[in-house]
Amino acid sequence: MHKPDRLLLAVFASVLMLFSIPAAVGQHRLHNAEEEKIKSYPWMNQSLSSDQRADLVLKELTLDEKIDLVHGNGMPGWGKPRPNAYLGNGGAGFVVGIPRLGIPIIQMSDAAYGVRSSAENGRYSTALPSNVGSAASWDPQAACEYGALIGRELRAQGYNMTLGGGVNITREPRNGRTFEYMGEDPILAGTLVGNRIKCEQAQHVIGDIKHYAANDQESGRNSVNVIISKRALRETDLLAFEIGISIGQPGAVMCSYNAVNGDFACENKYLLTDVLKDDWKFPGFVVSDWGGTHSTVKASAAGLDNEEPMDEFYGDKLKQAVQSGQVPMAQLDDHARRVLRSEFASGIVDYPTQKSVVDVEGGFEIARKLEEQSIVLLKNANNILPLNRESVRSIAIIGSHADSGVLSGGGSAQVDPPGPPRRWQEHVWFPNAPLKAVAAKVPGAKVQFDSGENPESAAALAKNSDVAIVFAHQWESEGMDLPNLSLPENQDALIEQVAAANPHTIVVIESGTAVTMPWVDKISGILEAWYPGSKGADAIANVLFGDVNPSAKLPMTFPRSVEDLPHPKLVTPPPGAQGRAAVMRTGEAKPTFSVNYDEGLKVGYKWYDAEKQPVLFPFGYGLSYTTYGYSGLKVTPGNSPSVSFEVKNTGARAGAEVAEIYVALPASANEPPKRLVGWSKVQLNPGESKNVEVSIDPKYLSIFDEGANSWKLVPGSYTFMVGGSSQDLPLKQNVDLK
Ligand code: BGC
Repeated sequence: MHKPDRLLLAVFASVLMLFSIPAAVGQHRLHNAEEEKIKSYPWMNQSLSSDQRADLVLKELTLDEKIDLVHGNGMPGWGKPRPNAYLGNGGAGFVVGIPRLGIPIIQMSDAAYGVRSSAENGRYSTALPSNVGSAASWDPQAACEYGALIGRELRAQGYNMTLGGGVNITREPRNGRTFEYMGEDPILAGTLVGNRIKCEQAQHVIGDIKHYAANDQESGRNSVNVIISKRALRETDLLAFEIGISIGQPGAVMCSYNAVNGDFACENKYLLTDVLKDDWKFPGFVVSDWGGTHSTVKASAAGLDNEEPMDEFYGDKLKQAVQSGQVPMAQLDDHARRVLRSEFASGIVDYPTQKSVVDVEGGFEIARKLEEQSIVLLKNANNILPLNRESVRSIAIIGSHADSGVLSGGGSAQVDPPGPPRRWQEHVWFPNAPLKAVAAKVPGAKVQFDSGENPESAAALAKNSDVAIVFAHQWESEGMDLPNLSLPENQDALIEQVAAANPHTIVVIESGTAVTMPWVDKISGILEAWYPGSKGADAIANVLFGDVNPSAKLPMTFPRSVEDLPHPKLVTPPPGAQGRAAVMRTGEAKPTFSVNYDEGLKVGYKWYDAEKQPVLFPFGYGLSYTTYGYSGLKVTPGNSPSVSFEVKNTGARAGAEVAEIYVALPASANEPPKRLVGWSKVQLNPGESKNVEVSIDPKYLSIFDEGANSWKLVPGSYTFMVGGSSQDLPLKQNVDLK
């Protein structure tokens, strides 16, 4: 970005700041004397545990105050505003505080890849690369930086709770929210989301993980019943949550819209109580997805703690149910205690939010850096990349509004660029233009743009250029699924024609999920850039010209065709199925259609492995501008088996290799052929070797035994495999484990 643009942004941010709501609005105002009194209350003693502090507050609460803690108070645009709407901060919801006891309002905002709807709220936020892109980094430290930035920007905007933390497994890659999630492997996804949450919450916001559980498609999400075996659920979708919760310790878990095995997730005792609270000992609160609550007595008994965004079931109805004994007081106490506990544990009581100006420049820097770690180099025939800035004289930039910006994912995750608020599901392009970013790398070269609308004109420009770079896109959003994985708007034909005109054609994809590539053999270079965030174009240019050596690996399989998916045909609601509003707002609602996840354990690469089906690009795959060699595998059995090996940079550039460890379980375990159990991202200079040692959590080697309702390690021979992708595993060793 040029200096004047930067200046403009800084001025814009400060002007917004001047006109924004003062810090104290959105929190209850208190007088000094009251504040002093509150400081002296026993629960304000920070040396007590969060549980002790929550218990002390709970004892002081009236029935009405307890009820206040367990429901929302509306969301802008969701029905008629309530009289206390002025207490909100413009976000997706809020829970009133208990001012007399020093308990603040919980101000919630969506924050998948940045703080949502900042424009509506008159504020500015950084858009990071989409979550699936962040999973492509395979880097817990990068996930931590991602969370920390969002945590800081939430607080700067007056929020103290995030609704980010999506980790639904990519079981159905056409799911319109795939960009909000962390890919198809539960151990990778869980580890990364956990690190994101840990660091987000360390900024003193209540963390969240969602959508619990098996909300793996958007089609009919409010009325679908997911049918899945307990074993498959525990080893796939729930394992991602289990790991994420254990690493990140989020204050909240958001239950999902769909039903699982007959009961809506937000009134599903198996999910909320048996697994989450009893087995995993989750001490925080369960918050319903927006309008995902369907009952009072059943939901409360099942373990739902907080209804959002209204109080349809957890307001007067809950109060009456407690008074009549249908809901025991102890149960309401548990809901309220959990909310309070998360307020103390996250630090929002001890560190009240104070609105401030977001660090725009700092955010750009982090967004660019994270995207550089997220871009996957999928193909590099004849080393067409990195582009040689000494010799390239002309470049054709084609398609996808590359003259003006980069794409972002829509729905409640949408982060707005500066300017007026965008409509729901409007396609939003961030003003960081690939054309400009590429041109800046080669000041002497002719860099020209063609919109791609007319493939002939694009091909003509490509023909007259040394190199053609086609930007391809596939937009996704909450509330819809993709009909297939093809690039929309005739882009396949555009790419074919450009490639026919110029053999030096590179495709850069901006997508939130896998795309099919009928033209793959005709293209020299392919980058998957995902939705790349506020500084995506700069990051893409840095990779194209080799200022950054790509190191990301696919967190999901790219299949050859939707025909190869476990369910070639997306399951959609039958005609006449209850619509969203009907299902969401009706007590005693029932799911109206089912999707049967009978592929069970075989999610993503596990499906293609088991079916022996070739793929376009496998899970864990990604190239670099250097090469790596693997040797010396040694597996030491034990409680947490230890895996050690050497990785060597055998090329001429410094780089980072994600070294991946997979295991094939004994045949008697009845598992797909292999699973990822660990990895390490290793920085290596040219010629350098490093010894890598990874110890493997025994759960990652275990299966879920439905009969015993617990994890068990099946005794027998385990094959450990190590390499740079799920389909390139040069090292192998068998060990017996008991
Ligand atoms: C989405 C959630 C989101 C909530 C609040 C729902 O429609 O499914 O992910 O946090 O709205 O905006």
